[in-house]
This record gives sequence, C-alpha cells and structure tokens, in this order.
Amino acid sequence: MKILVIGSTGQVARALAAQAGKHDVVRAGRPQIDLANPTGLADLIGQASPDAIINAAAYTAVDKAESEIETARALNETGPAALARTAEALGAPLIHISTDYVFNGLGGAPYAEEDPTAPLNVYGQTKADGEQAVLAAHPGALVVRTSWVYAPAGQNFVRTMLRLGSERDQLNVVADQIGRPTEAHALADALLVLAEHLRGGAPGGLLHVTNRGEGSWRDLAEAAVRGAGLETPIHGIATSDYPTPARRPGDTRLDLSKAERDYGIVLPDWRESLERCLEMMGVGGRGA
Ligand SMILES: NC(=O)c1ccc[n+]([C@@H]2O[C@H](COP(=O)([O-])OP(=O)(O)OC[C@H]3O[C@@H](n4cnc5c(N)ncnc54)[C@H](OP(=O)(O)O)[C@@H]3O)[C@@H](O)[C@H]2O)c1
Repeated sequence: MKILVIGSTGQVARALAAQAGKHDVVRAGRPQIDLANPTGLADLIGQASPDAIINAAAYTAVDKAESEIETARALNETGPAALARTAEALGAPLIHISTDYVFNGLGGAPYAEEDPTAPLNVYGQTKADGEQAVLAAHPGALVVRTSWVYAPAGQNFVRTMLRLGSERDQLNVVADQIGRPTEAHALADALLVLAEHLRGGAPGGLLHVTNRGEGSWRDLAEAAVRGAGLETPIHGIATSDYPTPARRPGDTRLDLSKAERDYGIVLPDWRESLERCLEMMGVGGRGA
C-alpha cells in the first residue's frame, strides 16, 4: 500500500517511515505542506495518489498552546479539517491522530471512545475540535486517540528525563497524573495495520490505541532512567508542586478494548516498548 504521511520530522511521522515494511510510506512535511496554510493539498494528494493518508502533523506544545491559541487551532482543527475535506473529495481513506488530553481526567476509570470530551487546556480543546471537524468533513475517517508519546528521537519526556538524570543529583517528577505511555514505533505498527483495514472498507470513527499498562510520569521517568543504568534518585511530587501554563488531566487512561475487539490490535506493555526504545537509543539493557 502507498501511504501518505502528513508530517515529516515528528515522532510518529518518523516512526511510520521506520516501520513501513511492505508498505510504501511517503512523508510530506514543511515546507512542502504547511497545515497552518493548507494550500496545495489537492495537488499533493492527487499526485501521490495514496491508498491511505495518515495525518501525524499537529501543534503539540501543550504549554505554549495556551498563548498561541490561533496557531494551535490552525494546526489541530482547521488544517486537519481542510485535509479531511480534500481526502474525502478524492476518495482517500484518512487516519487522523488525536490525544487523551481531550478528556479532563476526572472519570476515575479508563475512557471509552464515546465518553464525552472535556479538555482542560487549549491543546486538548483544539484537538477535540479537530476530531469533530475531521469526522464531519470525512465521515469515513478514523480518528486514533493515543497518549504520552515518546520516541528515540525528538523532543519528549523520556529523552528529557535521561538528560536531566545524567545532569542532576535528583529528579522531582509528578506522580499523581496517570496514563498509558506510548512508544511511537509501537503506535506506528498499529497505525499501519489500521490503514490496511480502512483501505479494505472498515468503518471510520474514534479509536483508542496506546501501549498496554499504566503509570505515572514518575513511573515512566523511573523506568527510563533505571533502564539506562542511572541511579539518580527520583522523587514523586504533586501536580500542584509543579505549576505549568496548561492544566493537565489527572487520569487519562484510555480504554483499549475496541481496538482489540474490532482490529485485533494489542500493543505491548509500555515497559516492554520503553526497553526497545532505550535499545534503539543505544542506552538500554543497563537496568538492574
Ligand atoms: N507527543 C505526545 O505526547 C502526544 C500524545 C497524544 C497524542 N499525540 C498526537 O500524536 C500526533 C503526532 O505527534 P508527535 O508526538 O509525533 O508530534 P511532534 O513530534 O511534535 O511532531 C509534530 C509534527 O507536526 C508537524 N507540523 C508542525 N507544524 C506544522 C505545520 N505548520 N504544517 C505541517 N506540519 C506541521 C511537524 O512537521 P515537520 O515534520 O514538517 O517538522 C511534525 O511532523 C499528533 O496528532 C499529536 O497531537 C501526541
């Protein structure tokens, strides 16, 4: 299958290219395509003539979004809506990626796809609006919500913890937010399978796809730092002790049963995918 990925250097875009296998994955990032000013989409899709499109581009700077609302909205809502309209007009199946941050984290149990969204921050609000806009423009599109994404390269929590763990005497990490950390290559494998299903006529809608298991940011930091052989003490702190411009939800575990039931998709436990990530970074296998 030929799969056109919107986004080039992002964590998920790169992982999709790395995991392509039998598929021909073509990435289109800036300056070729600017989702904030999405002219030329019809030409891009028409020329590429893909069997499916995966939109891995987004405004992902959660704190910065609080002060860059218009840019976040352009990249997370209006740009994806334009992409969805064009894909629909050209008959191209579309997977759009969304986030656990569409929820407020107060549910007390894993969120199902149909649970009402209630974002706490601008990023989450623009992503929630983007989901609706994409599905309105392209009812056959699949909107895949994932969470806490990291990869061997790019800006992410795991890489930050490894850097700080080697620079500082101790780390203080938020321990009262829980979710399902997800490694980009594991997610990419699932997205490629989903693209095949979509091409084969599977229905669109919302779908939750993350690594299995759950943990706090502190758990993720601990597993990453120990896995890299560092002994830096890691103390758990409360969200209230780490003020950020954007409010964060407390418990955004996503219910994964639909992906398993309808598509047979079961990603590894997050600790297993984290180990693989550390190996790809050349720092793995050093844990106790
Ligand atoms: N990161 C997380 O923790 C997380 C959690 C849940 C859901 N998600 C979702 O997962 C998806 C992928 O995220 P990620 O972590 O791979 O993101 P990322 O590493 O921050 O990469 C962002 C991507 O967006 C592209 N982009 C930014 N501005 C653009 C513009 N004006 N026009 C076109 N493309 C633009 C970048 O393009 P270039 O390639 O051109 O630089 C890059 O490929 C997003 O939908 C995100 O909301 C992420």
